[in-house]
Amino acid sequence: MTTSTEAQDQSNAPDLLNDPYPYFNHMRRTSPVWRGTLMESDLMPEELKNPENWTLFDFDSVFTAFREDTVFASEMYNQTIGLVFGPTILGMAGKQHHDHRSLVSKAFKQSTLAAWEPEVIDPICDQLVDEFKDAGEVDLVKAVTFEFPTRVTAALLGLPQEDLEMFRRLSLDLISITEDIEAGLNASVELGTYFQQQVDQRRSAPTTDVIGDLVAAEVDGEKLTDEAIISFLRLLLPAGLETTYRSSGNLLYLLLTHPEQLAAVQRDRDLIPAAIEEGIRFETPLVLVARNTTREVEMHGQTIPEGASITLCMGAANRDEKRWEDPDTFDIHRPRRAHISFAGGIHSCLGMHLARVETKAMLTSLFDRLTDFRLIEDDDTKIVGMPFRSPKHLPVTFKPTSAEPTKRT
Ligand code: HEM
Repeated sequence: MTTSTEAQDQSNAPDLLNDPYPYFNHMRRTSPVWRGTLMESDLMPEELKNPENWTLFDFDSVFTAFREDTVFASEMYNQTIGLVFGPTILGMAGKQHHDHRSLVSKAFKQSTLAAWEPEVIDPICDQLVDEFKDAGEVDLVKAVTFEFPTRVTAALLGLPQEDLEMFRRLSLDLISITEDIEAGLNASVELGTYFQQQVDQRRSAPTTDVIGDLVAAEVDGEKLTDEAIISFLRLLLPAGLETTYRSSGNLLYLLLTHPEQLAAVQRDRDLIPAAIEEGIRFETPLVLVARNTTREVEMHGQTIPEGASITLCMGAANRDEKRWEDPDTFDIHRPRRAHISFAGGIHSCLGMHLARVETKAMLTSLFDRLTDFRLIEDDDTKIVGMPFRSPKHLPVTFKPTSAEPTKRT
């Protein structure tokens, strides 16, 4: 991916990869609805590039665009990520989206999660930390933030334990597709074949895991086709695993670099949900998403034409001073106002409750077993990237705790 020269010229070459926030703040204040683009994808075929690009920076505009899904449509995903994942829920609209979402959503409801949390998610996180708790030091990205959503996703899908290593490798290749396109495309094909086998097995012997649920799901006599199930399962890797791995890395970095807030959360676990939301607001793991306009639309005195490519900059919207006091400060104690990192409207994140439950379990397992964390800072511990942001590694030293594990609530 390359940053557009147009965006760079506007503000003395903003450092979008390392610290996009000064530029986001400037644009939100001066041009909340801006004719221009932040990112151009080298993966996008020339004939699909749109000369009419707009970016929305302030909270109200981004929120409105998510809600007005018939004007700010997402069908262009079928020509972009659809090429790798197949037709996915993200590119669907209207009744097709509604019906598909009804079929896949059971597995992600809070009531379903209530059972998974103690039975699957908490034990996975406990075991993970047990594996290195006596080592005295670890890279939290390698050992924890990539590992826990991979293991949880594999377990919830119902994949056999012996396939975990392969699933880990293919997941990593698929989510690194912008760095190595060939490996990403191969992983997509291999995962497709693998998921097809898993679906076939469940057609002959039903199961109660997520793949089993998807195979059995039926609304008004309609069932999901194999192609729809496999595209959905592939999408779960970037949509569910990558976002959670990055958001949890960001949260750990923010806590480790704000020791008073880390100590407060270690002391009072009831602060964990607030810490999770503030981490996701302050360092949005997925900063931008795309839309296209289906008709001309007025916003902030600007006229966006029909057929324009729109970037919704959630990262900038989450720092809007009209909504949060002192938004450039990471503060887990701030009065809670909903952020927009999980999008909004019909495509709002299906896995947000799962992401919260997983992250809470991960922090609880860490804090129950370890204390006295010290981050060994270097350039790669900083949060970087666009549109996904997170630290590359988080080497820490720590000591084992002597206290009894908390009773999880
Ligand atoms: C912190 C973690 C997460 C963040 C920040 C996040 C963010 C988002 C965002 C911004 C969207 C909307 C994208 C768009 O409209 O273009 C989305 C949609 C979605 N997310 Fe998440 N997500 C997270 C975790 C998860 C998890 C754990 C899962 C499932 C395992 C998941 C599954 C999905 C799905 C299936 C959609 C598509 C929903 C639809 O189109 O109706 N996400 N997510």
